[in-house]
Amino acid sequence: MAGPATYFDSANTGGLDPVTRDLVERRDRALGPAYRLFYDEPLRLVRGLGTKVWDADGVEYLDAYNNVPSVGHAHPRVVAAITQQAETLNTHTRYLQPGIVDYAEQVLATLPPHIDTAMFACTGSEANDLALRIAKFATGGTGVIVTTNAYHGVTTEIAAISPSLGGIDSIADWVRLVDPDDLTNGTLSALASFADADIRPAALIIDTILASDGVYPELPGIVEAIAAVRAAGGLFIADEVQPGFGRLGTQLWGFERHGLDPDIVTVGKPMANGHPVSAVFARRELVDVFAANARYFNTFGGNTVSIAAAQATWDVLHDEHLMANAATTGGYLLSGLRELGLDARGAGLFIGVPIAGGRDRTIAVVNELRRRRVLLAASGVNNDVLKIRPPLPFTTDDADRLLTELDAALTTITV
Ligand SMILES: Cc1ncc(COP(=O)(O)O)c(C=O)c1O
Repeated sequence: MAGPATYFDSANTGGLDPVTRDLVERRDRALGPAYRLFYDEPLRLVRGLGTKVWDADGVEYLDAYNNVPSVGHAHPRVVAAITQQAETLNTHTRYLQPGIVDYAEQVLATLPPHIDTAMFACTGSEANDLALRIAKFATGGTGVIVTTNAYHGVTTEIAAISPSLGGIDSIADWVRLVDPDDLTNGTLSALASFADADIRPAALIIDTILASDGVYPELPGIVEAIAAVRAAGGLFIADEVQPGFGRLGTQLWGFERHGLDPDIVTVGKPMANGHPVSAVFARRELVDVFAANARYFNTFGGNTVSIAAAQATWDVLHDEHLMANAATTGGYLLSGLRELGLDARGAGLFIGVPIAGGRDRTIAVVNELRRRRVLLAASGVNNDVLKIRPPLPFTTDDADRLLTELDAALTTITV
């Protein structure tokens, strides 16, 4: 494709300094071509703290992109919890341990009362894969409805419901896509198409901030879409991997912002501040059907150290009032972006900024911001939306720095 690339082109190592060039080339040889590096000048990060990261030359960057270190890079309480548990014992869910039960009870208490069962895994992909297995057993259906540019993960089953990975051709014949602008009519058409193909629906799966679709805080027609799926025998799965755990500011869960009532909730990324933890939260009767057909063991899912990391992250999220910070700092940032004349949208610390001029200009802005020591990325079907999604302790000073550099980047670039 012509124009600036979303990712580093490994044919372009010529302009890099010798150390970076050597690492890029060795990485290419060892890891192969499926991996991607951000930016036209790849970044080698060596340290992080709070909302800042540092590269190998000691240069500091403002992290306005990474939601996985949700309570801040290298948070001392999470580091201490991991260290202490790793020094003591790390084992799996086939031995009795109080930590996983305590943690599950605390998170379940924040979900709707009928969501009463927690199952742990390591990645969002695995959580969605398990959710889909549960939905398929419980409904007897196979059909899945997702949004046009959805991303739900990388297992074979989940890649087949993730059009943003490989486009429409990568989608299985038991999957239908709906436009996030018109969820009701899209879902009704998808259900009609399933009926024509003799496919019973299993689930509608929605990322409730529509991150890969371009970050949309509203879900027009979602209530009617869920009702139609349920009437046809399917379930509603809320993929909270992106919006969950307080990022949207006003509620802990993205589906809550819309007054929705999911059958299954999946979570991952921000749960344990970088440690691989994910989970499925579901209604007991659905898990009962699954358990009658299969058993569940995940070697690393719910291990003692991971749960210690998740518990510490949960405690920091609450003790440091990070959801409230997401609301206030996110609101401040959104207003600041609009004062720059940008058509920004979002909720809390999850903001999308469409860039006039489209994809090439958006990618040029991302690269210029990297040169200005601010980390961001592009999102959306056409990669023409800036995705702002920093660690939750982002301050108004951080927001001011982002606004200053973005304003300068927009006036500097000529694309
Ligand atoms: C909405 C959503 N669901 C699921 C996933 C998959 O999570 P993981 O990369 O942990 O497998 C992602 C990852 O970006 C995501 O954004």
